[in-house]
Order: sequence, then C-alpha cells, then structure tokens
Amino acid sequence: MFQPFYRPRRLRANENIRRMVRETKLSPDDFIYPLFVTHGKGVKKEISSMPGNFQQSIENLVKDCGEVHTLGIPAVILFGIPEHKDELGSEAYSDEGIVQHAIKAIKNKLPELVVITDVCLCEYTSHGHCGLIKNGVVQNDATLELLAREAVSHAKAGADMVAPSDMMDGRVGALRHALDTEGYSDTPIMAYAAKYASSFYGPFREAAESTPQFGDRRSYQMDAPNSREALREVALDIDEGADIVMVKPALSYLDIIFQVKQQFNLPVAAYNVSGEFSIIKAAAKLGWIDGERAMMESLISIKRAGADMILTYFAKEAAMLLNSKS
Ligand code: PBG
Repeated sequence: MFQPFYRPRRLRANENIRRMVRETKLSPDDFIYPLFVTHGKGVKKEISSMPGNFQQSIENLVKDCGEVHTLGIPAVILFGIPEHKDELGSEAYSDEGIVQHAIKAIKNKLPELVVITDVCLCEYTSHGHCGLIKNGVVQNDATLELLAREAVSHAKAGADMVAPSDMMDGRVGALRHALDTEGYSDTPIMAYAAKYASSFYGPFREAAESTPQFGDRRSYQMDAPNSREALREVALDIDEGADIVMVKPALSYLDIIFQVKQQFNLPVAAYNVSGEFSIIKAAAKLGWIDGERAMMESLISIKRAGADMILTYFAKEAAMLLNSKS
C-alpha cells in the first residue's frame, strides 16, 4: 500500500496544534467600526438590510462608541445623514453639520478613540452623486474644493483622520493642501484609493440615504475587471500624500488587496462593505450557513490577503467573540 511520506495532517490534529502553526490572527486592533449619525434625540433606527446597525442620534452614537472602545476596537468611521440635502451638499462642509457635532461629542467623552470621517458629498446632495453636477455630468475639479472644505471642517471639529471616498481625480492632493494650509498638517488621510463601482454597496445606500437619483457611479468609481488600474490609483494617491490606502470592497477584491500590499509599503485598509455583511446575515437567518463562522472566515481572508486594518460592520460582534476566547 502506498504510504505518504509527508503528512500535513499531523499539524492539524487538534486545536492547540492548529493554534501553534496558525499564520494569521485576528484581533480587535484590526477593526474600524462604521457608524451612521442622524439628527434628533433618542433616535436608534435599525437599518433593515443591516441587522445590528443603526442610524443614531448623537447621544446614542456616543454610547455605541463607548462599547466599541471597551471592546478594544481602536477606531470608528462616521457617516452623516443631513437634515436637508441640496445640489451643493452644503451640510457636508458646514461647521454645524451632523458629523461635525458628532465628532465633538465623541472626542469629548472618549478622547482616545480614533475618529475617522468619510469625506464625500453623496449623503448630502439632493441628486445623491459624490460631486457637483453640470449638464448631467459629475464635475471633477469644482468638487475638489468642496471636498477640501469638508475635510478641513472635520479636522477643525476634532477628527483624527479623514477618508475621502468620492473617487474624484486629485482629491487626496486637494485635501492635503487644504489641511496643511489651514493648520492641520498632522491630520492623516486614509484614501479610498482603489474603490470599485460595486453592487455590494446596496445596503449602505439605504443606511446613508445616498442612492444616486439618476445614473450610477461608474463614471468615477473603478471598473471591476481592472487590476493594473487599481495600482495606478494607489500610486497616485500615495504621490498626492495619502498616509493609508484602502481597497474597497474587500471580498471580491482580495487579489487587489494582495497586490497593493506587495507593491507599496504604506498601511493597507480594506472595506468589508455593507453587501458583504448583509449576505452573511441573510444566509445565516435562513439557516443556510453558520453566520459566526462565515464572519470569521471572511475577516481572516481579508487579513490574509494583506489588509492591515478592516473597516467592517462585524467589528463589535467579531471583537466580542475574540475577547471571549482570549
Ligand atoms: C460614499 C461611500 C459609500 C460607501 C462608503 N462611502 C457608498 C458609495 O460609494 O456608493 C459604501 C460602504 C458600504 O457599502 O458599506 N461614497
């Protein structure tokens, strides 16, 4: 009878042996938790397609941030739902905007928690696009100025880091220049560098009320079949002053995360987006998969591909699980 000489199964025999040879490990340190903040008092409205995630008013948001901090998660990223939307997305860069108020409230209670802000116009514009519209087209250069104002106003409110997600050309440079000019040269930029036009953003658009009212985002977000272009996008953002580069979404783009990690030496973030979260939640609810195992498997695969940090709606749940095992 043939007997194999090398037997990889020897090192899989039990959990302790598996722990000893495990190449990748997750920790709450790896996570960034996305949060949605809205006007009002006592608001905590569950997002139907994203169970366990809410649109919250500021005092509930601060409470949630307290839990995040206690779980050992170092950072949150904020998305705002404005009171009024208009053509120019004015509340995005108003010092009285919802995100600006939320930053102050969080930093006041939890000074060590890292507060990152998403810098984009789509939640604030009546047409739901990430930039200004002229003749039905999203205007690149005119949008840069507004994005820069938004970033500066977040920094002024106390944001620890800004994260442009609009995919206009040159926005990292525009933000860096504006931040430096206004005295925020120490505020880092996490650039959504390779952000693809993706169907997996569906649930987020319900959460942030940011569905485009006409057309789609394919004239500014990347085309899914391209990977060399992603490396060009990342290189551009680094040239313009990005401190951290992000790939988004994560699970359908693990090859991009891997390549970015191999080619560049900046920290790499990956956004495990709303649709990636909702799919697992829905299948688990139907009893079709083990939701907890699918969550951990997808998070570890993102880290194994090369992500140094993971933006994920699973952050709290996964941190709870990790903490209970350590
Ligand atoms: C804003 C923005 C989006 C996401 C993060 N920032 C939506 C979009 O581009 O349509 C998606 C996040 C998610 O799906 O979890 N531009």
